[in-house]
Amino acid sequence: MRRKVSIIGAGNVGASAAERIALRRLADVVMVDIIEGLPQGKALDLNEAAPVDAYDVRLTGSNGYEDTRDSDIVVITSGLPRKPGMTRDDLLQKNFEIVKAVTEQVARQSPRAILIVVSNPLDAMAYTALKASGFPRERVLGMAGVLDSARMRFFIAEALGVSVENTHAFVLGGHGDTMVPLPRYSTVSGIPITELLTRDRIETIVQRTRDGGIEVVNFLKSGSAYYAPASSIVQMVEAILLDKHMILPCAVYLSGEYGYRDLFLGVPARLGATGMEKVIEIQLTAEEKAALDRSAAAVKELVSKLKV
Ligand code: NAI
Ligand code: 2OP
Repeated sequence: MRRKVSIIGAGNVGASAAERIALRRLADVVMVDIIEGLPQGKALDLNEAAPVDAYDVRLTGSNGYEDTRDSDIVVITSGLPRKPGMTRDDLLQKNFEIVKAVTEQVARQSPRAILIVVSNPLDAMAYTALKASGFPRERVLGMAGVLDSARMRFFIAEALGVSVENTHAFVLGGHGDTMVPLPRYSTVSGIPITELLTRDRIETIVQRTRDGGIEVVNFLKSGSAYYAPASSIVQMVEAILLDKHMILPCAVYLSGEYGYRDLFLGVPARLGATGMEKVIEIQLTAEEKAALDRSAAAVKELVSKLKV
């Protein structure tokens, strides 16, 4: 039997993720949106691409939740995206209401699903989904670190003229201006970039990574990035469905790891069939830990504004 992934929000990120899941033949996909016809139209379009792209998974579009019943994974992308001049945090109250209501419906239909939250502000929305679902922390993840690290990897590859496949990067912390790119743990074929690039060039890469979202928003003007976010979601979906035990930077609910409790923060985590298998604790310098503390404080402050 094929696996089932539901995607709530059939907008730019949701539909792009659905397409990538189909192209990789990972699972049947159900897309849900409040706009009548939108998920149905996109699902039909993707089904009609199937003979050409040679996938036998099926896509369904719906404005209700019945079709999502017994999903293995539910990806939550519903909500407003950023426009120029807006921070991710400006989306807080509106997306809180959407994510809370959506999660309650999802949890009712698929009580054993693993949730991957994407809506912004990411860490606060993942917290909202955890509380609204009542699921254990192993089954509620936020997607941001894979995206932020992918951006950093691309900038490193560009700076050194090497394949993106040779690069590895870790970006921890909240998915916002306080995120913490870690050059010491960012490598090219195992060599730390601190040995390959000057401090100035590394600082430029670090800042461009922090500004990665807004750089795209300023070009698009009508919304935010979706190709790289969709690919990042699908890497997490694949790690879970294929039980890969893959270490990826994800927003997870911390219960004492790194010295934090009761908040979602981006940290390396091992993903497999049961969701988040383990938080990986890496050694941080005093400076790196101070940056992570600032990021954790920013996430806490945002969450404190919510009636979760
Ligand atoms: P979009 O506007 O293209 O799509 C959002 C979709 O959600 C729309 O089709 C809308 O009708 C739907 N929606 C709104 N309320 C809903 C509800 N109650 N139930 C079901 N569907 C509902 O936006 P896009 O670009 O797809 O972004 C989606 C969200 O993901 C935004 O909040 C954005 O900021 C966030 N995002 C997060 C990233 C991350 O790294 N965590 C990366 C990229 C986007
Ligand atoms: C991004 O980083 C908007 O959070 C989204 O592109």
